[in-house]
Amino acid sequence: MCGIVGYIGKRKALPILLNGLKRLEYRGYDSAGVITLDQKNFFIEKEVGKIKNLEEKINKEFGEVDRIDGNVGIAHTRWATHGESSVKNAHPHKDCSGKFWLVHNGIIENYNELKSFLEKRGHKFISDTDTEVLAHLVEENYQGNLLKALETALKKVEGTYGIVLVSKNEPDKLIVARKGSPLLIGVGKDEIIVASDVSAIISYTDKVVYLNDGEIAEIKKDNFKIFNNIKKEEVAKKINKITWDIKEIEKSGFDHFMLKEIFEQKEVFLNAIKGRLLFSEGKAKLGGLDLVADKIRKIKRLIIIGCGSAYNAGVVGEYLIENLAGIPVELEYASEFRYRNSVLEDGVAILAISQSGETADTLAAIREAKEKGVLTLGIVNVVGSTISREVDAGIYNHAGPEISVASTKVFMSQVAVLVLMALYLGRQRKMSLSQGREIIDELQNLPKKIDKVLTLNDEIKKIAQKYFSMKNFAFLGRTYNEPLAFEGALKLKELSYIHAEGFPSGEMKHGPIAMIDKNFPCFFIAPNDSVFKKNLSNMEEIKSRQGKIIAISNKKDKKLEKIIDDLIIIPKTKEYLNPILALIPLQLFAYHMAVLNKKDVDKPRNLAKSVTVE
Ligand code: AGP
Ligand code: GLU
Repeated sequence: MCGIVGYIGKRKALPILLNGLKRLEYRGYDSAGVITLDQKNFFIEKEVGKIKNLEEKINKEFGEVDRIDGNVGIAHTRWATHGESSVKNAHPHKDCSGKFWLVHNGIIENYNELKSFLEKRGHKFISDTDTEVLAHLVEENYQGNLLKALETALKKVEGTYGIVLVSKNEPDKLIVARKGSPLLIGVGKDEIIVASDVSAIISYTDKVVYLNDGEIAEIKKDNFKIFNNIKKEEVAKKINKITWDIKEIEKSGFDHFMLKEIFEQKEVFLNAIKGRLLFSEGKAKLGGLDLVADKIRKIKRLIIIGCGSAYNAGVVGEYLIENLAGIPVELEYASEFRYRNSVLEDGVAILAISQSGETADTLAAIREAKEKGVLTLGIVNVVGSTISREVDAGIYNHAGPEISVASTKVFMSQVAVLVLMALYLGRQRKMSLSQGREIIDELQNLPKKIDKVLTLNDEIKKIAQKYFSMKNFAFLGRTYNEPLAFEGALKLKELSYIHAEGFPSGEMKHGPIAMIDKNFPCFFIAPNDSVFKKNLSNMEEIKSRQGKIIAISNKKDKKLEKIIDDLIIIPKTKEYLNPILALIPLQLFAYHMAVLNKKDVDKPRNLAKSVTVE
């Protein structure tokens, strides 16, 4: 999903802008552009495809990037929503006079009306984007003050935006505004970097200020002022310290970020539980919930919301919280919840799960729930993200930056935190001290079991080599592993573009089994748990229709080995913790299938790391 970098300061802007865009590449995009201002002269370049195409275009036309002057500038990676991916539609966009240029993340929902209004007033448009209306609106409203011009322009705008504006009229500043699309201000020494994601800033400074929705700022090289563009007053903001360091967003010798992040999962699991287990009391300590602990005690029903993998993690959470805490749980796709007008009776609460903390559908669902006075909780990875600041209380994953578009380590972390949540809720209710301690005990046994599963990488690669040419796959599981089947299918789909579907094992005979033949393999998550025998019969049904079967289980079993084609053995654990271990073979399988199919593992086509548009 699109990226923004802005620079103003003591150094030449262009190299910093391009490096910043490269840090944002992992978020997914289809074109890129940059503009720098050297007092009265603009330098602009745009290109479709990867950042390196843009760089090559600059080098070809102007020689070295470093030769381009100008210590003010803005850059953008576009994930097209209005207008195809083309040089014409790439950002930045300008007004008629060419004095005002800007980049934008988000969607201007009323751009058609605005465009007709502006065309009637004689404005000529070049691009097919919604964004371009913003530049003409600034021109329309400019009366000598750039911030005021953007502020007035935005009064007419409906939709979401993260905007950075630069102008020849006031060459010593950037104007930034945010509503629904993240923007951060990195405060350096005699220089300021603005970006849509912290990874573009941490090479230059660890001091960052988060813009909130409805705020607009004037940024100069050595100071900035932030205003609430509704109340018109200046806003005092705290400078936060970024805790991540640059090596966390490097590949560290792995072929892909995804493989690195899969192998980080023991540390990620440890970070999720670190300082949060109170064995003596058999409880989970979740500091982020302290302020609302009494309200949480009164929860009678929980609605978990999320999208994609976050949703799938939520379904694991449903099983965990219902079984361990005895609270009814319902799952809602965030994109559905926001329009469904759900019944939100007294005692209901929302739990939003989001890695990025910026997913538009999840954020909108939270706002919908808050409108109705419902307690909103969050499980979020990115510190300071919008969702983390808008829920009433929440828990950070502390999984570090997840660079690969497909979520792996954070999914694991989300499930781990949901176990802690179930323990926390359970011990507020009927769960006994000994039961709480039993959960804590097994959680502390998991890291060495995670290590053991990771040693299966080569074995799983060999299995992928047998199946990588398949065009269809089914993933199946029961109870805690049913959502894992959906996550395994999602991983395979989004990484290798192979059609894959997740099913509850028991559902196959109600229709989907009609698809099964030797070219439609089935991947069963079938640990030796309370429903193992049921899974075994489902495998028999597949086998009797010549379906190929890959199974994840805990030990060699005569009956199992007669039926399946490939067996992946993982260590046994408590039934409710099995997803934390069974997840890893699914991730590794999808990874190797993507590599064998020569796909762009870390940046699959059409996908974005954080979907900040509807
Ligand atoms: C996961 O592999 C996908 N990239 C995607 O489904 C993702 O989980 C979803 O967009 C939700 O993102 P979030 O966790 O940042 O809210
Ligand atoms: N809606 C704008 C466009 O299509 C911005 C998209 C984005 O967020 O990258 O150009």
